[in-house]
Amino acid sequence: MISAIFMTTMPAITVNNLTKKFNNFAAVDGISFAVEERECFGLLGPNGAGKTTTINILATLLPLTAGSATVAGFDVCKQKNQVRQSIGIVFQEPALDSRLTGRENLEFHAMMYGIDRLTRQKRIKALLELVELSEKADVLVRNYSGGMKRRLEIARGLIHRPRVLFLDEPTLGLDSQTRRLIWNYIKRLNKESDVTIILTTHYMEEADDFCDRIAIIDHGKIVTMDTPANLKAALGPQASLEDVFIKYTGNTIRNIEEREKIW
Ligand SMILES: Nc1ncnc2c1ncn2[C@@H]1O[C@H](COP(=O)(O)OP(=O)(O)OP(=O)(O)O)[C@@H](O)[C@H]1O
Ligand SMILES: [Mg+2]
Repeated sequence: MISAIFMTTMPAITVNNLTKKFNNFAAVDGISFAVEERECFGLLGPNGAGKTTTINILATLLPLTAGSATVAGFDVCKQKNQVRQSIGIVFQEPALDSRLTGRENLEFHAMMYGIDRLTRQKRIKALLELVELSEKADVLVRNYSGGMKRRLEIARGLIHRPRVLFLDEPTLGLDSQTRRLIWNYIKRLNKESDVTIILTTHYMEEADDFCDRIAIIDHGKIVTMDTPANLKAALGPQASLEDVFIKYTGNTIRNIEEREKIW
């Protein structure tokens, strides 16, 4: 009881002055933020803003140049293994083995995390049901549609019960129905299991519907960060999140020209 009274929530993610340079180009340029446990946090920004780079650093897949970050209380530089045990990740680029079936992909991933056979079977069954792939479990992934692959990747990201789940463009290129389905899973996961979610998306309406808080990142810097409601309200009673996005990031198409200026 006493512990319950004194229980404080520890941030699931802390990022302090995080910087990542590729040669002299700062893809991530001194960003700071914290994500609370069980929060669904959205990282929005134009192409090349630095979202995937940030996620890859937090997932220990890329070394940082300066600053610091913790995930689930572990330092991403000094405690890589603990961070890896605590996270699940769905990459922007599909990362399934298309020569295996859906079930085999999940099996393989669960084995990598040292999950015993019985637990594997139980979790795989439950997750296949969650993402509505039970009937396709024994079909080779090369014969899956894009939406089915995305759903399988989400299931795979959850198999070891991560405390923090990174979703980099989880619904990119999917039809509206599948996007809605996937967002509903994400929301359910976020509310029913204690997982903290950090995601990127280019779909403003979805970020608006599903994220508790949003950071808009541009040229490697956070340009604004708040709840979707506050971000919109600051602009006016009719403002959409798209309006907020355009206000902070402008209308020009982002590409590699800035990097080219430096290189
Ligand atoms: N390995 C790398 N080497 C050199 N430059 C890189 C590398 N990875 C990313 N960049 C550059 O860093 C910048 C940020 O890229 P990042 O992939 O983080 O953007 P993003 O916000 O995820 O964009 P998108 O919305 O297109 O996915 C871009 O200019 C990109 O070209
Ligand atoms: Mg990206």
